[in-house]
Amino acid sequence: MSEVLFSAAPIKDHGIEHHDFLRAVIDGLGKTQKELPCRFFYDERGSVLFEEITRLDEYYPTRTEAAILRNCAGEIAAASRPGTVLIEFGSGSSTKTEILLEAMPQLGAYVAIDVSESALEEARARIEARFPHLRVETLIGDFSGLISLPAICRDAPALGFFPGSTIGNLTRPEAITLLRHFNDLLGVGSRFVAGVDLKKDTVILLPAYNDAAGVTAAFNLNLLVRINRELSGDFDLNQFRHESVWNESAGRIEMHLVSLCAQNVEIDGHRFHFARGETVHTENSHKYGVGEFQSLARSAGWAPAKVWTDPERLFSVHELAAGA
Ligand code: SAH
Ligand code: AVI
Repeated sequence: MSEVLFSAAPIKDHGIEHHDFLRAVIDGLGKTQKELPCRFFYDERGSVLFEEITRLDEYYPTRTEAAILRNCAGEIAAASRPGTVLIEFGSGSSTKTEILLEAMPQLGAYVAIDVSESALEEARARIEARFPHLRVETLIGDFSGLISLPAICRDAPALGFFPGSTIGNLTRPEAITLLRHFNDLLGVGSRFVAGVDLKKDTVILLPAYNDAAGVTAAFNLNLLVRINRELSGDFDLNQFRHESVWNESAGRIEMHLVSLCAQNVEIDGHRFHFARGETVHTENSHKYGVGEFQSLARSAGWAPAKVWTDPERLFSVHELAAGA
């Protein structure tokens, strides 16, 4: 019998995923400020588009974080006991993970968790081919609904890995809840490495979320394509445009889809009205100061241990320790 690891049925059961997606869309579009949860960006096409984003000149986070990891992987490895299991939340293509895997031959196993089945499958094949002696386990599902770690983690030291500034996609209260949840899951004595994008000038930030080639726009609009395909929606893709704005008081980039005219959209028999210029808020991407993130981590039960940044202070990698 398979282990029960998620609070909801696994995403492999497409009936549950469909129900979860439909519920979230109906609820989100029913709000005064319409919104859609960003975890639904990552269908097969969304995961491919995200990978394209990571290679854009304007999107500095991926290459900057990879460079920081190359510098600090040795230190992270030195602090890891033999048999440590590396557990990655929102692993996507697991590209940056390879930097750690290379530096840590003492790892007992690698566990990758993501909502995107296609991204997990590709990553698993590549990692198993490159690290043939490493045990690799993949879990498809929402990391916030993970209720226990797989058997492979039992009695092994745990090292959580949460790169990419995915933590920034949550509001501060949500981020504290999620980090506390990871702390409970990983347990006493565990360590955690998180990649966190830093606050910076909008001259750098805005193009990162509105690139000249239009890849981020395609990524944002793909959410409507997914609703049309999976939930029998009738969004007219030509009547919405991508927008990203810096919200100074909240310290975050927000992505929206702007309705270009007054229009009605039907989704699975539910009708929604959009005024001209009305937006659907599709993603938050919070940016933190180093101290600001450390105090957020402390509120979630983690003790900041080390932090590394790049010379331009664009991005930060934090090492945290779970208290007793
Ligand atoms: N860690 C990779 C990918 C970051 S993109 C990197 O640093 O480049 C964010 C990833 O998190 C995507 O692969 C997406 O599918 C996944 N994701 C987003 N929300 C999730 C959730 N609630 N549960 C599990 N995975 C999630
Ligand atoms: C995954 N996440 C941290 C990315 C970000 O920067 O917020 C997703 C993304 N959205 C637009 N571009 C990239």
